[in-house]
Amino acid sequence: MRNTLKVLSLIAALVAPLAAEGGSDTKGKFFFKKTCKSCHTSGGSAKEVTPLSKTQAQWKAYFAAGKHKKGAEKLDTVLKPEQVKDVQTFLVNHASDSPQPETCGG
Ligand code: HEC
Repeated sequence: MRNTLKVLSLIAALVAPLAAEGGSDTKGKFFFKKTCKSCHTSGGSAKEVTPLSKTQAQWKAYFAAGKHKKGAEKLDTVLKPEQVKDVQTFLVNHASDSPQPETCGG
């Protein structure tokens, strides 16, 4: 019993930093592909953006500032705030220096 509790608190401690972000990786990937990628592809209307475009720290700083288009608008004018959170979670989880870097189809 005591060991079970130890294991549970260990798991909670490991999961907490991810949960603190509050977003969904899976939903974030969906919104990123559906919305962000509609402009941010090679040959699209804006320069290509993938999770690998930034490090985890750079993505966190980017979303903390919350500005888009070189500060011309806020990120939550592109998507609803909770969807922006999901996209942030996806991009941070798969950033260039993350354990699971991902290009999201280039
Ligand atoms: C309607 C088209 C459009 C959509 C949708 C869009 N962007 Fe952008 N984005 C732009 C343009 C235009 C720029 C400024 C020029 C450039 O960097 O190519 C930009 C710039 C950026 C930049 C470079 C830094 C900056 O802000 O200037 C990042 C990173 C970025 N967008 C991420 C995102 C993310 C994440 C999403 C989805 C939540 C998204 N964009 C959705 C058009 C779009």
